[in-house]
Amino acid sequence: MNILLGVTGGIAAYKSLLLTRLFVKAGYQVQVVMTAGAKEFIQPLSFQALSGNPVRDSLFDQNQEAGMGHIELARWADQIVIAPATAETIAKLRMGRAEDLLGTLCLVTDKPIMVVPAMNLLMWSNDATQENVSQLKQRGFDVLEPEEGEQACGDIGSGRMPEPQAIFDYVQQKIAQKAELEHLFLKGQSFWKDKRVLITAGPTFEDIDPVRFIGNRSSGKMGFALAEAAQKLGAIVTLISGPVQILPPPHIERVVDVRSADQMFSAVQKHYADSDYFISAAAVADFKIEHKLDKKLKKQAQETSFSLSLVQNVDIVAWVAQQKNRPFVIGFAAETDHVLDYAKEKLARKKLDAIIANEVGEGAKGFESDVNQVTLMTLNTVQTFAEASKKSLGFQLLSAIQELRSECVGSN
Ligand code: PMT
Repeated sequence: MNILLGVTGGIAAYKSLLLTRLFVKAGYQVQVVMTAGAKEFIQPLSFQALSGNPVRDSLFDQNQEAGMGHIELARWADQIVIAPATAETIAKLRMGRAEDLLGTLCLVTDKPIMVVPAMNLLMWSNDATQENVSQLKQRGFDVLEPEEGEQACGDIGSGRMPEPQAIFDYVQQKIAQKAELEHLFLKGQSFWKDKRVLITAGPTFEDIDPVRFIGNRSSGKMGFALAEAAQKLGAIVTLISGPVQILPPPHIERVVDVRSADQMFSAVQKHYADSDYFISAAAVADFKIEHKLDKKLKKQAQETSFSLSLVQNVDIVAWVAQQKNRPFVIGFAAETDHVLDYAKEKLARKKLDAIIANEVGEGAKGFESDVNQVTLMTLNTVQTFAEASKKSLGFQLLSAIQELRSECVGSN
């Protein structure tokens, strides 16, 4: 396993010496790339001695290019770790700048990049830095958040680079997770190839009048992660999504945007019959406004309270589960308490083949977050997953559903 360690110009660069030593001791091949700023803090020779490889620090050094050119170097790496990552480096990565070797490598590589920010607490909390970090996360960069504590400048707060052992352990965990996903991927490809998977995601908005609506906190991330995993495993995916702020994953066969539960129901009715799997990850409103107004509701001055009459929406996933020519139906259960009990009850009441339970509400992970903690249940099985990114859970859940199907087919 080859690690390309990018070191940038922060006082925490000294910790990267020990990090290099930890990687080498664990048997990793390490090549260090330093920015000009990093060399203000540490001699390249120190890293060369620890890594056993010449340090790379220039895009235009004929001698360095004569050895392993920067394209080859990017291909050589299995994992890129940038530690410390200064605010400047994070900004350049966000902009896709290629004015130095490290920036160029991050643009040409297709391998995972982990960023370990380290900077003064005010720089870390600055909106520009936070927005840059958020953008990198959305592009799939792994960001190991800085620690709280005393900083070299004497300030106390968030922005301190974690200790080398903590970074090393985190990299090890990520490499293991990636290996597990690759295993799931290989195992899953043959199963999911050309399977037709219908997925609903996001909220539904139930309009009160042309201005107001009743919605919920679903961001679409969980359903989109399942769609992305299914597509990458070779399935033919139809994604029906309520109004969300995120872009659908690339190469999805068909994306249908809807607003209300009624519109989502119509779209599901159109596509369920030629699907092999239906995963209902959408947060579908249970009720809609009985009398939707076509003009903005005017507030009457003397009125101190107001009530709305709501009527039930169709239970879409339950409806699909009742159809004769139905696909394998997997629902979700979003609960604030008694999560598994309520999920089991929904599984039976809606006559689903499986249900994925997750906790929502204050402090829970279900809505909006990039991570989640779920339990996959059937009438006879319960499989709890460790908290993970929704993207990773997408693959893990499809792998578990594959197991369920294989067992079903095996037992028939
Ligand atoms: O989108 P994210 O921000 O990533 O959040 C993910 C999530 C929390 C929305 C997702 O993980 C989740 O739990 N989705 C289901 C939310 C929901 O509506 O759960 P529920 O327990 O109220 O509904 C149970 C099941 O019935 C769900 O599969 C739901 O899609 C379905 N349902 C509900 C009502 C309705 N009228 N029709 C339905 O099909």
